Amino acid sequence: MKLTGRRWIFAKIAYSKMKGALVRVLSLSGVFSSIHYAFFSRAFRREQRAVVAGLLTHMSHLKQDSSYFLLRRNVHRIEKGLIKPERRAIFAREYIGETVDYYSRCLDGCSTDSRPREFGWATDVLHQYFDVVGNDPLVDKARDQFMRIAPQEMGESVPYARGEVSSPVSPEDLLKLVRQRKSVRTFLQKPVARELVDRALQVARFSPSSCNRQPMHYRIFDEEPLLREVANLPLGAVGLADNIPMICALTGDLSAYFYERDRHSIYVDACLSAMLFMLALETVGLASCPLNWAEIDTLDRKFEKLVGLPPHERGILFIAIGYPDPEGLVAYSEKKGMDDLRSYNKVSRKD
Ligand SMILES: Cc1cc2nc3c(=O)[nH]c(=O)nc-3n(C[C@H](O)[C@H](O)[C@H](O)COP(=O)(O)O)c2cc1C
Repeated sequence: MKLTGRRWIFAKIAYSKMKGALVRVLSLSGVFSSIHYAFFSRAFRREQRAVVAGLLTHMSHLKQDSSYFLLRRNVHRIEKGLIKPERRAIFAREYIGETVDYYSRCLDGCSTDSRPREFGWATDVLHQYFDVVGNDPLVDKARDQFMRIAPQEMGESVPYARGEVSSPVSPEDLLKLVRQRKSVRTFLQKPVARELVDRALQVARFSPSSCNRQPMHYRIFDEEPLLREVANLPLGAVGLADNIPMICALTGDLSAYFYERDRHSIYVDACLSAMLFMLALETVGLASCPLNWAEIDTLDRKFEKLVGLPPHERGILFIAIGYPDPEGLVAYSEKKGMDDLRSYNKVSRKD
């Protein structure tokens, strides 16, 4: 039976009351919500599967030497040990063996030309580590192994003193740039120069990421018919998809992690990079509009199928990119006031 007019409104009110009651019950206990989402709702199913697929891929990459996530993470942990003001004589003891083992397998697994640039950084940091760390059976064993296999020449990718730096950009100029960036939904109908996008990505590369794992990837589409098919995926692109000359799907690789607890890092890391990217686009004369990628099963499937996304690589945010139409309007979109935005030393207690 098709609901129309008043019936539809009553049905909507009844649904929202039922949902309100259900949510109230679920919020009472973690057990209630776990049972609900395990048996009665598929809302988290796809995400859970993706997290598990990520763990599995992580483990198989460790065996096959095809992942650099562990190397990046461990080398970064060593960097943190090196820069400590009161450095311990022995540190990284628990994972130096695994790091050098993995380094060695990566070294065997790829030719000099195909070695990623992180490899040079790992070599430099490990050299410095073994120069300064004290003697200990585990560390010495790893040192011997490393010295046997590592290139002897050492580069400069090691911790350095930050020195007295003065910002090349004034706070006023930064604010001007940030205010210039607006979500633009009307673009000139001309192809976007990839060199400009790459320049912006050179900035996005420098975003922070948890343990320097850099799990994000920018999948960029600028050729028909794929461009139009991808642009029509995000729900929020309705009405503007046909106007988008280039679209980027920012994804996160869950195989970067060995623990479920890290599952949110892909979102945080990717979005920190996305913000730099969107600001940098402004500096090269391009504009952007972030597009929500909601957790919708059917859309996820479509996206996976369209671009061959593996189950552990998740869509995070889509970004429309193009030359802004100077005649096109942008929304004012007032921002929160400072008192709403922040508080210092606030403690929220239930009365
Ligand atoms: C995560 C995220 C998702 C967004 N999704 C959409 C979207 O689907 N469609 C759209 O037109 N705008 C989208 N926007 C743009 C916001 O509407 C916009 O950032 C906000 O209204 C503030 O305007 P401003 O970006 O011009 O400052 C999104 C922004 C963010 C950060």
